[in-house]
Amino acid sequence: MAAPLLPKSVKRAVVDALTHDMPSDDVAFRPASPASPPEIARSIFDLHEAGLLEGRCYYEFGLFRGFAFWFAHQMIRKMEVRDFHCHGFDSFEGFPDVDGPGDEGAPWAPGTMACSREQVEAYLREFDADMSRISLHEGWFSDELFAGFEKENAFGEASLVMLDCDFYESTVPVLRFIPTARSREGESPRRTSPPARRRSDPSSPRASRRPSRPSRPRPCTTENRREPGGR
Ligand SMILES: C[S@@+](CC[C@H](N)C(=O)[O-])C[C@H]1O[C@@H](n2cnc3c(N)ncnc32)[C@H](O)[C@@H]1O
Repeated sequence: MAAPLLPKSVKRAVVDALTHDMPSDDVAFRPASPASPPEIARSIFDLHEAGLLEGRCYYEFGLFRGFAFWFAHQMIRKMEVRDFHCHGFDSFEGFPDVDGPGDEGAPWAPGTMACSREQVEAYLREFDADMSRISLHEGWFSDELFAGFEKENAFGEASLVMLDCDFYESTVPVLRFIPTARSREGESPRRTSPPARRRSDPSSPRASRRPSRPSRPRPCTTENRREPGGR
């Protein structure tokens, strides 16, 4: 059932409460794009009014520091939605090394926008997230990775999906995965055709092209743009 339309005063109160929680300008916990929080806020207000938040999940693919994820989570809390869960997915190692069809000329070097899982969790805790309503899932996006996650998790129906992993090759397996996450209990998940290329295949040239995992968490990175014409 749809929730009643929110009066402007209630929307204002939610925004004020969130503004109060916002990190100050000298804190590095910020979104990759300032355009994301207003878009998320608009979507969450709309979903609330349509009664589509309660009992559902927020999914974000591509977290970087986790700011947009935190923002969505806090906003849903401020709307006093009782039953919801937020699932965040990232390599926590930044961008992969890709240059296949659809990604030619991408300006980002491998490892750009890396933020360790420990750092993301630290930001979430520092800014008062309810960690019992949060699950972080780590790895390079692929059909195999998501199939493994599905075995280990009961993913609830999505009310909002933030797809923010920039590359075509990163996005395609997410799009294959989302329909399963969206399916209601009892419905058989929709499946598209199997992937043409399997990233875990050791013979795949891409398998060896991931940036290697550092032994200690790295600080968050934003630099490392590819040089024009370089890799
Ligand atoms: C633009 S940032 C996300 C920004 C974040 N949503 C925000 O609003 O602050 C993109 C993120 O996608 C992640 N990413 C991109 N491709 C990926 C892949 N194939 N597997 C896992 N993570 C990936 C990177 O690690 C990076 O943190």
